[in-house]
Amino acid sequence: MPSNANTSIIDEICEYALSVAAEVPWLNEPLTRGRGKAYLLQHIPRNRLYSGVTRPAWLSRCPDLAVVRKTISQMREELVFDDRIAQPHTSILWQMGRNIGLTDEQMNNVKLEPLVEVAFTVWDNIARTRHWIAGWLATSVDEFIISTMPKHNFQAEAWKRAFNLNDEQVFFFSYHTKVDDDHAGRRVWDPITRHVHDEKTRQEILDGMKLALTALRLFYQGICELGDRLDRAELQRKNV
Ligand SMILES: [Fe+2]
Repeated sequence: MPSNANTSIIDEICEYALSVAAEVPWLNEPLTRGRGKAYLLQHIPRNRLYSGVTRPAWLSRCPDLAVVRKTISQMREELVFDDRIAQPHTSILWQMGRNIGLTDEQMNNVKLEPLVEVAFTVWDNIARTRHWIAGWLATSVDEFIISTMPKHNFQAEAWKRAFNLNDEQVFFFSYHTKVDDDHAGRRVWDPITRHVHDEKTRQEILDGMKLALTALRLFYQGICELGDRLDRAELQRKNV
């Protein structure tokens, strides 16, 4: 396969991902307090799943040492220690949760929403049974979306507005929209082109990527359902 056809697989991934993201209600509709809390809560187990379970699963089959090294260093930043901020991302994630009114008890005992659990099962299956690059994409495509889409609810501004917070209190989001640029996207995914030499492989990767994005829609749909329930409960409390 000529190299220009290899290059275009990355374009195809990026275009498809952004077209799906444009239709995800959680990303595009106004952020409510319930939807914000629901995101934080369901992202806690996803963060653990990605770096503790799913990334190790496809990494174990990845022949590209540069990709292995980079991904392990990302897993370290998430769960162990990020040298730039002298703490793991889990610490700033919990702090973000406290800033929007969640308790540690709630964050330590998250129950998965049914659609979120379906998404986790799909991502895990991709990482274990599909081409390792499909696993890589399943655990990085959301980072590409949030660092590339011009306007969406992962951005700090949305959280400042919904929860009346200052810059310091939304550090988790402002920091991530920056670092995720280094975790996914055209430049980071460039090594993919080294490993796609035939149409069958290319198709396997694209099929896996599309399945991962279908799961991402379910992940966000589950969050919206939980968030809307939280908003209704809040409204009822106010009306009593
Ligand atoms: Fe992170």
